[in-house]
Amino acid sequence: METIPLFKVYVSSDVDKPLLETIHSGWLGEGPRVQEFEKNLKEYTGNPQLITLNAGTSALHLAYHLALHQHDYKGYANSNEDEVITTPITCTATNTPIISNGAKIVWADVDPLTGSISPRDIANKITKHTKAVTMVHWGGNPCDIDAINAIAAEAKIKTVEDGAHSMGMEYKGKKIGNHSDYTMISLQAIKHITSADGGLLFLKSEKDFKRANLLKWYGIDRTIREGIDLRCEVDVPEAGYKFHMNDVCAVIGNENFKHVDAILSKHRENAEFYNKAFAHIPTITVVPQNPDGKSSYWLYTIHVTNRDELMGILKEKGIMASKVHARNDTHSMFAQFKTHLPGVEQFNATHLCIPVGWWVTPQQREYIAENVIKYAK
Ligand SMILES: Cc1ncc(COP(=O)(O)O)c(C=O)c1O
Repeated sequence: METIPLFKVYVSSDVDKPLLETIHSGWLGEGPRVQEFEKNLKEYTGNPQLITLNAGTSALHLAYHLALHQHDYKGYANSNEDEVITTPITCTATNTPIISNGAKIVWADVDPLTGSISPRDIANKITKHTKAVTMVHWGGNPCDIDAINAIAAEAKIKTVEDGAHSMGMEYKGKKIGNHSDYTMISLQAIKHITSADGGLLFLKSEKDFKRANLLKWYGIDRTIREGIDLRCEVDVPEAGYKFHMNDVCAVIGNENFKHVDAILSKHRENAEFYNKAFAHIPTITVVPQNPDGKSSYWLYTIHVTNRDELMGILKEKGIMASKVHARNDTHSMFAQFKTHLPGVEQFNATHLCIPVGWWVTPQQREYIAENVIKYAK
């Protein structure tokens, strides 16, 4: 029996020809393919202040750099008092760039069912050292973005959205990328849309947008100017990174991106099927979706008391299920920030993700629902 995977890489056959052309074009770095991809993404999201990068993690690193180092930054201090409020219910990549940027992590609790960061706990944890707050849209289910942005605006701190799971997510009628100071979407291999590896960063302020465009490539201004050799003659005021996207990744991303609506529809249809199937099953609690938004359903998450046992049974039945991310505040690298988080404890004890993506057929989703209902406790 073939296992129904929890994740699957989507690569359209549309990619083949333009990818070959790009590989042999004599231009592999950031060039026309990146520009074309960015143009399409800007039209789709409605936000022209977007940059493509080599990973979602790089987008987060840049976002924290901008939020924490408001002026030209000459190197890592690593001893400052800056704090970022964030959630441990996520991939470690949400949080490692905070400590790499020299700041301290302050964990906020999450809603025990949705896993979304609690606006009330954010408000409780703001201090004079807080510089930013990060929200993660678990599986593409929007957090209380407006409530968090209102708290942040009052405290004069920045907001970061980790939308790694959230390509095409909507909140209050607008697509992701239009609500907060910094928003990341991941284009890593198993996401809705992949560029093999890559990430998007949306920026609210023009100043940040201009600065991010420099920082993504060593801090050097790539604008072509008559008589100036950009590698040798332009002053570099601030140390940047090598985070830009290249044309090979961009052509893969751009051709896959043409199918974004069809892919999202399949995820949402499968989720709708499960919502109905599990609606009256007392042993299964489905993660409630934010009524102000439209989830991208990268994950379909339920809570069951026998999570680990159910995961094992489903594996035997040829269904891959997983926690996907477990709380990451327990890692040694974060030990100094440990605190009591009852919502995190509860979410982390019972959550389970089942296959929901574009590859799951109507017969497969019926088989999955049947088995989950039969063995959930
Ligand atoms: C919630 C979350 N944040 C950040 C990342 C890192 O993104 P990337 O793999 O594109 O660097 C991931 C994983 O892809 C993720 O799931």
